[in-house]
Amino acid sequence: MNEPPRLPGGGFSAWNRDRLAVARRGADECGDVWQLEPGVYVAATAGPCEAVLRRAQDFPKAPSPLFPPMKGANRAPTAEERAHAHAARMRGLRAQAVAARIGEIAPGAASFAEQWPTDQDVEVLPAARHALAEIGVRFLFSEDAPALLPFAAQLFLAREVLVRPSRWEWPRWIPTPARRFRTRQQAAFTDALRPIVRRRCSSGRPGADVLGQMLQPSAHYGPLPEEAVLDTLPGITVATFEAPTRAAAWILLHLARHPQAADRVAAEAASLPADPGATTSTHVDNLRYTQAVVREVLRLYPPSWLLTRQVARQTQLADYTLDAGSTVLVCPYTAHRDTREHPEPDQFRPERWLDGSGSTASPGAFLSFGTGPHGCEGAALAMAMLTLLTAHTARTLRLSEPPGPEPGYQVTSFEGLATTGLRLRATSRGPVQSRFV
Ligand code: HEM
Repeated sequence: MNEPPRLPGGGFSAWNRDRLAVARRGADECGDVWQLEPGVYVAATAGPCEAVLRRAQDFPKAPSPLFPPMKGANRAPTAEERAHAHAARMRGLRAQAVAARIGEIAPGAASFAEQWPTDQDVEVLPAARHALAEIGVRFLFSEDAPALLPFAAQLFLAREVLVRPSRWEWPRWIPTPARRFRTRQQAAFTDALRPIVRRRCSSGRPGADVLGQMLQPSAHYGPLPEEAVLDTLPGITVATFEAPTRAAAWILLHLARHPQAADRVAAEAASLPADPGATTSTHVDNLRYTQAVVREVLRLYPPSWLLTRQVARQTQLADYTLDAGSTVLVCPYTAHRDTREHPEPDQFRPERWLDGSGSTASPGAFLSFGTGPHGCEGAALAMAMLTLLTAHTARTLRLSEPPGPEPGYQVTSFEGLATTGLRLRATSRGPVQSRFV
């Protein structure tokens, strides 16, 4: 049996001190697949990462719902109902559905930039989260969003508390304070959503948003039971703004550090209509350089930089044999630094997505949204939100880092890759020459 190599000086203690550094060293010194501890493997480069995510039978994703089905719900949804709810949700999130609703996304992106206080340091993560929650929750629930936003913010807080690193992992059945807080917030969100669902159903106007898609009776199943509608919405609601917030902070930092790129985004954004509500998918499609900036930042700093899978049965990966019951950590962060896919991988070079020198189509070259059966459901929505947020910010503001020798933020990698404590300063940008457009 051919086992993946162990990284000298690797292992959990080094990993817990600096995960990103150990991940990079593992990829550099051991190659495609390496072993962190016995039975814990890391898929480090594009090919094996892609293979693990696609081969879901061999490498299943463990169920780990952050918002598990509520106890006391009338009846837990069946597997068939869950699948139907998933398909309905996907209809509301697919690329065509997002393209048709760009005019609802753009105003939130524009007001983020307009409301940014100039000439003072602003903490980026809370500001971006606030804006993206408004856009994301509105995308799910349209005019019912304002009633749900405060509950969505509490759901996010509950999730933060729950995933915070702790010395001791309590068994799943122990109702720790964090788990009780989560359950209370989940119940509060569901209680706020239930009358909205009932009102829409009884009025016969399900709505044209994602919730509306879930309330449309299907020809095959008829209407979904209420619990099946309510079941997954807490998780999806938080998903609309959680990873996008981390991504937005990385993007704004890059606009601050690369003023020429910011100028080029600003010039491109000059083609957006003065009334953000009149923005269409054609406008967004024309923001090609801005989209390349977003992709490039997502390549360098994938917010979900490490994805976990189990090994269902003894199987081959690259040239190695992995035992049933072991764990594979799929690492987009190192896969995106594979020189075979991305020349000069540590350089911020948005042009690589425009000039064809980056092998954009090859398997595993871009895994920021995952791939395969568990790939990101919200990728189209995320790209639209981030492209418009980037364009409006660069069009309105010049960003910079506060002066000082040290970066004023910490890179945290425990739950996603984030810029904790990042502050940026903005000055208002004058009229933009659109010489690049
Ligand atoms: C920049 C923003 C985002 C990034 C980087 C991101 C990244 C990812 C990744 C890497 C996965 C795969 C996880 C895995 O394979 O274990 C995933 C799954 C998922 N994402 Fe996103 N995501 C983003 C935005 C969104 C948005 C806006 C939504 C809104 C609905 C969303 C909903 C989901 C859902 C529901 C899944 C689970 C799919 C499944 O397990 O079948 N994501 N996301």
